[in-house]
Amino acid sequence: MTQHPVETSFWHRLLDTKLTRRSAVGSAAVAAAAVTLPVTLSDAQAQANNGGAVSPTGQAAAPRSFPPFRMIEPTTADTITLPAGYRFQVLAPWGEKFTDDGRTIGFNHDFVGFFPIDLLEGGRSSTEALLTINHEYVNPLFVGGNTKERTAQQIRAEMQDVGVSVVRVRREAGTWKVVPDPRNRRIDAFTDVELTGPVRGSAVVKGATTVKGTVGNCSGGQTPWGTLLTCEENVDGYQKAWEGSGYEAMHQGWVTEIDPFDPAWTPKKRTGMGRFRHENAAVVLAKDGRVVAYMGDDMQDACIYKFVSRGKYDPKNRAAARDLLADGDLYVANFGNGTWVLLDYDRNKKLQDARNGDKPLFTSQAEVLADARAAALAVGGTPVDRPEDIEVHPRNGDVYAALTNNSKHGNFFGQIIKWTEAGSDPGALKFLWGVFAYGGPQSGFASPDNLVFDAYGNLWMVTDNSDLGTNPIKAYHGNNAMFFFPTEGPNAGKAYRFAVGPVEAEMTGPVFSPDGRTLFLAIQHPGEDSPSLDQLTSTFAAAPGTKIPRPTLVAIEGFPGWRA
Ligand code: FEO
Ligand code: CA
Ligand code: CA
Repeated sequence: MTQHPVETSFWHRLLDTKLTRRSAVGSAAVAAAAVTLPVTLSDAQAQANNGGAVSPTGQAAAPRSFPPFRMIEPTTADTITLPAGYRFQVLAPWGEKFTDDGRTIGFNHDFVGFFPIDLLEGGRSSTEALLTINHEYVNPLFVGGNTKERTAQQIRAEMQDVGVSVVRVRREAGTWKVVPDPRNRRIDAFTDVELTGPVRGSAVVKGATTVKGTVGNCSGGQTPWGTLLTCEENVDGYQKAWEGSGYEAMHQGWVTEIDPFDPAWTPKKRTGMGRFRHENAAVVLAKDGRVVAYMGDDMQDACIYKFVSRGKYDPKNRAAARDLLADGDLYVANFGNGTWVLLDYDRNKKLQDARNGDKPLFTSQAEVLADARAAALAVGGTPVDRPEDIEVHPRNGDVYAALTNNSKHGNFFGQIIKWTEAGSDPGALKFLWGVFAYGGPQSGFASPDNLVFDAYGNLWMVTDNSDLGTNPIKAYHGNNAMFFFPTEGPNAGKAYRFAVGPVEAEMTGPVFSPDGRTLFLAIQHPGEDSPSLDQLTSTFAAAPGTKIPRPTLVAIEGFPGWRA
């Protein structure tokens, strides 16, 4: 195993953390490595978060200052536009049958998890995997076909087309295919999900211990033990839309853990991670082996959180690892003084003293977690501009977060920030932060959303300008796009346009295969603003003989792969 040089950035120098990741992490590195291959912790974390951003030799490659492609121009074409030498293939579009019992792929794909088929045996196949696909929401024009008053039938169709798909895929003869597997399944708005953590059985959920379904599945994360964290983002509107279905808003808005390898394991809502508009969960290990998840609350003037498990990760005990996220502490970021502030009713008096008029704002930890946003603001959490995805740099542990925009106070273009934890330890309670890249005409991008790192530590980002109306972005940006940023060297923070998506689509869920040769990307809501089925604004990925655009997963190839 090679000792990798570690960036000594401004933040690292200030924090005096000129440590190699390996020397810094001790037993946690060994622990993380054992579940996959003998690689460094940073490599294992990259694999957990990014589906395997390590070279075929198990070594992180040297940083790169230039992209592996020739940058493309903005466009409004109704396709995926890529640099010369790259190509895409439609894989797992909405509506395709993929399970033995005839279930179909859900709508509006978002986070994509890549779980190598041999992961639990210590392998990391790049040609065969269980993929998990989040399905964030439906467009009633396309799903159920009824945009007026919802019938019971319409509601049922919508509830079956959200949630998560677990899909086995294989690369054969140069093409990716969906293949049969008993683990192929849908988790939708009807599936039984168990509540865990302080809210389980509490008054907040009227004593419930099991609830129906997972909805609003936006971004997510992968754990080192090979499970999916799917994040429930926009969950409030369904109370009215699905009236009479039994939908309960308080049962949604959590992080749900799903084991793609074990359909018999009931999915679990991790209430200790709080309830808010969960965008994502980026999972790493603290130096002492506790599990840390970074999370954003995607709303204007909302906060960034981290959850730290009470227990430590033991890679030899997967059964115990699957319980780790049931118990731990939730913190909110205060960017004013660079601290993580504890959201615990019994241990933070500010939560006991918080008032709404003359009434206490909270009377229990369950209430704190159920309205984590109010609790965060009550203890000095910093409201930021729509925190979308968060990812951890595979080489130096810096944490990057996309702040997509905030029209409330003139931040139309958004920015990507990054911070360094004290001692480069994800378990630390202090950090230093700064801006990595600003959106705007000068950089070419706007509204950063999902992020993914490659093996070299380059950042890849997709934009979401969906809600921006007629502001100046339309003039320079074209359709939503994917950008590449070096994070080290002379071009650090410079945006290179790699891909442009179809009309009215957002590209989401980027994840690389472990060898770096395939990029999986979800194409969400193409043709979203179509006024009717006769006036479609996009026909992207329409089924043969039809014109209705379909959200889909695509596999993009042409990458050289990681080279040590
Ligand atoms: Fe579902 Fe915040 O994007
Ligand atoms: Ca998003
Ligand atoms: Ca978004």
